[in-house]
Amino acid sequence: MAAPTHDSDFEREYGGESGHQPRQDQPQASNQGQITGYIVFVAFIAALGGLLFGYDTGVVSGAQHYFVADFHLTSTQQEIAVSAVLIGALIGALIGGKAADVLGRKVFLIVTGIIFGAGAILTALAPSYGALVAFRILVGIGVGGASVAAPMYTTERVPARVRGQLVFLFQLAITFGILVSYFVDLWFASIGFSWRAMFGVAVIPAAALAIGMFFLSDTPRWYASKGHWDRAHDAMLQASGNEAETQVEVQRIRNTLEQESGSNPLELLRPGLRLALLVGVGLAILQQFVGINTIIYYAPIVLGYSGIGQAGNSLLGAFIVGIVNFLTTIVAVLLVDRIGRRPLLLISNIGMLAMLVATGALFALGPHKYGLLLVIAVLLYIISFAIGFGPVFWLMSSEVFPTRLRAAGESTSAFFNWGANFLVSVTFLTLITGIGPTFTFWIFAAFAVITIIFTTTLVPETKNKPLEQVEVFWTNGRDWDAAERAAAGKRRNEGPQQDTTQPAAS
Ligand code: BGC
Repeated sequence: MAAPTHDSDFEREYGGESGHQPRQDQPQASNQGQITGYIVFVAFIAALGGLLFGYDTGVVSGAQHYFVADFHLTSTQQEIAVSAVLIGALIGALIGGKAADVLGRKVFLIVTGIIFGAGAILTALAPSYGALVAFRILVGIGVGGASVAAPMYTTERVPARVRGQLVFLFQLAITFGILVSYFVDLWFASIGFSWRAMFGVAVIPAAALAIGMFFLSDTPRWYASKGHWDRAHDAMLQASGNEAETQVEVQRIRNTLEQESGSNPLELLRPGLRLALLVGVGLAILQQFVGINTIIYYAPIVLGYSGIGQAGNSLLGAFIVGIVNFLTTIVAVLLVDRIGRRPLLLISNIGMLAMLVATGALFALGPHKYGLLLVIAVLLYIISFAIGFGPVFWLMSSEVFPTRLRAAGESTSAFFNWGANFLVSVTFLTLITGIGPTFTFWIFAAFAVITIIFTTTLVPETKNKPLEQVEVFWTNGRDWDAAERAAAGKRRNEGPQQDTTQPAAS
């Protein structure tokens, strides 16, 4: 997914969007803190985008048991059916940014809702294995598109002061969507419904997304990028409810657009900045190579090894995985601005490392004999992921890039995240049957070790750092103090009329 921008630290510490202080000649907003009904509605739509993303990736976990039996699939065919949504997501993420620029965020999200809805109905009616894979790819295009456009829409649609909160909401909504999909799998299985109903029911939130978006206007930033400054102003006023704040926000959009106009994404390959790209892409790949989605997508299978139950009970196990994942994400959201990104990443990977080694060992010793311990190890692994690597990757992938190159950096990272996700999901069952679960989980453990080394040596702490200093940080020997001195010098040279603290592109 395209990384949502997360600027709450910066907003709190520096009193504005990403370290941006309104200039003296700009009007000051007076209704800080007011949440308008419009913002609540936007937040609700954002949640629907995240929910669909989570639901459509998680639902396959319980559904596969039934379609594998119906279509008599081999494990390779099963892997392809499970991973089809990820191929679609790669395509959706790739075209999503451009489509959202050309059509507008609003229209593209309506199209996404229609793709989700059509995909849900068609998947439910799929007459053959080939059709199932094709329609899951279609749903995936919706997932990839929503992963780019929903965070983009919500962060651009509202004033800076509520932006960080909406980003959190989107992340929580993804884990909530996964939880809902597990619940639906469990519930439908218990009343005799099978995979068709599990996939088909996603048409309801899909329709709500398309219809809901119809009643919202596009983002001020998109209107501005097309030169419609009056509409940009009106759209911002609608969300803000305050004329002074609206003027400050529209000025920020003007500054950001000016700054972006001269930038070329290939600059990310320049010395210094290429390290930022390495951190974004490296974390994107490693977040998947620690094996999280082998549990999220294949939970009933992995938990089935514990012998604690047949399909019904391991669906219950998967549901518990979903609850633990969702609740831990709430805790992570509360911790990330206090503890910082690096400590959370390290704690998270040390915990996963221990639990992956333990899971592999329990498989070697006899998963049936140690069934309960296996379930506990898997749950502690999920907790370790959700407390850090899950949400922190998405935050970091927006914070490590300079404002003018953020969109390019974020989408590149998102693309590699979906690609790595696909690679792991499409090989997991083959690995389990080929080299066995023990070595499979130990390979993931090795990637947790690599992540710990990668984090210690390369990943910067971005907590409380103004975004204006990010570029100087990378090009000045990765030293925040030097970056701060350089930024202060630049401000002095440019004088009070120059607005050097450019806002985030959101
Ligand atoms: C990952 C997804 C994963 C989810 C689980 C996200 O951060 O990018 O691939 O399914 O966490 O909660």
